[in-house]
Amino acid sequence: MKTLYLSTSKQDMRIAAAIVRTGGLVAFPTETVYGLGGNALDPEASKKIYAAKGRPSDNPLIVHISDLSRIEELAARFPDNARKLAEAVWPGPMTLVLPKKDIVPDATTGGLRTVAIRMPADPAALELISLSGCPIAAPSANLSGHPSPTRWEHVRDDLDGRADAVIMGSPCVGGIESTVIDMTEELPQILRPGLITPERVTEILGVPCGYDPAILGRPDPALVPKAPGMKYRHYAPRAEMRLFSGERSRVSAVIKEEAERCRSLGKKTEVLMYEDSREAAERLFEDLRRADSEGADVILAMALPEDESVAFSVMNRMLKSAGYNIKQV
Ligand code: TXA
Ligand code: MG
Repeated sequence: MKTLYLSTSKQDMRIAAAIVRTGGLVAFPTETVYGLGGNALDPEASKKIYAAKGRPSDNPLIVHISDLSRIEELAARFPDNARKLAEAVWPGPMTLVLPKKDIVPDATTGGLRTVAIRMPADPAALELISLSGCPIAAPSANLSGHPSPTRWEHVRDDLDGRADAVIMGSPCVGGIESTVIDMTEELPQILRPGLITPERVTEILGVPCGYDPAILGRPDPALVPKAPGMKYRHYAPRAEMRLFSGERSRVSAVIKEEAERCRSLGKKTEVLMYEDSREAAERLFEDLRRADSEGADVILAMALPEDESVAFSVMNRMLKSAGYNIKQV
């Protein structure tokens, strides 16, 4: 298939919406990462999404809406706490897992009885959803296993010829995928960490909010994550990635030395160091992709001190990228 590259002009957005309405796939910007979207209520569209990404079909898709009133159509229950979070954070980088109605096909939810719903903040995403007139199922618009795309060019690198259209929107400001929160139990629980932190959830709801224990440490075969996607490696660059943790100036010196050693062995070596966790979130996936496109053999990265929740969220991705190859120095 020949992929159409569209702008965010009204005319192009109408073309994109018509593609979604007629069962096709359109990649679009969100404030977190680019998504590969199709009509969430059409099982054939969802199947096409899995095929285009090469994604295992037991890993459910997030359903994107542009209007809170659409929740009732998709969720069998919308508890007060879920509504409060939605009203406080949406449009924004948060996904709520709720019991699903039958109208949401199993092909979209990977056979689960629940559906993950999110209202993204990028104006082009909201416009695409409302012009399409249907909720849009969209995973991150990367080939399965690659880092999530934060620019439309990344989507082109992975999905050219596999999506009907790509909207050439803005670079993503968030840079890591939305926080996924299970709202089906008495208390909220974070299934995938992101920029909306447990502290923020507690501030809004006044109740405790923890993490799914399965996402806290290294993958443990005895603990199955409640978000099926969290069991996959994900985010992997082609280069060998190694993390170094410890006091900043010491880590910086060790990485410099190690980079020199790798280069002297003829290995193309990239170094990743960030000032803070927000900068790391915004740049990590882009930097991993750049390292790959420049043919890096080795990536040496400074681990973030996990003393606050956004750093924990970014480290969740970094550790997966590095295959848990981390050294305390
Ligand atoms: O920021 C984002 O969330 C981006 C943009 C495009 O919105 N989307 C995204 O989708 O990251 P994806 O498919 O790459 O990740 C969805 C995550 C997976 O870990 C999946 O297992 C989980 O959400 N998920 C989806 N539906 C679920 C459900 N019903 N119960 C538990 N986890 C679910
Ligand atoms: Mg993804």
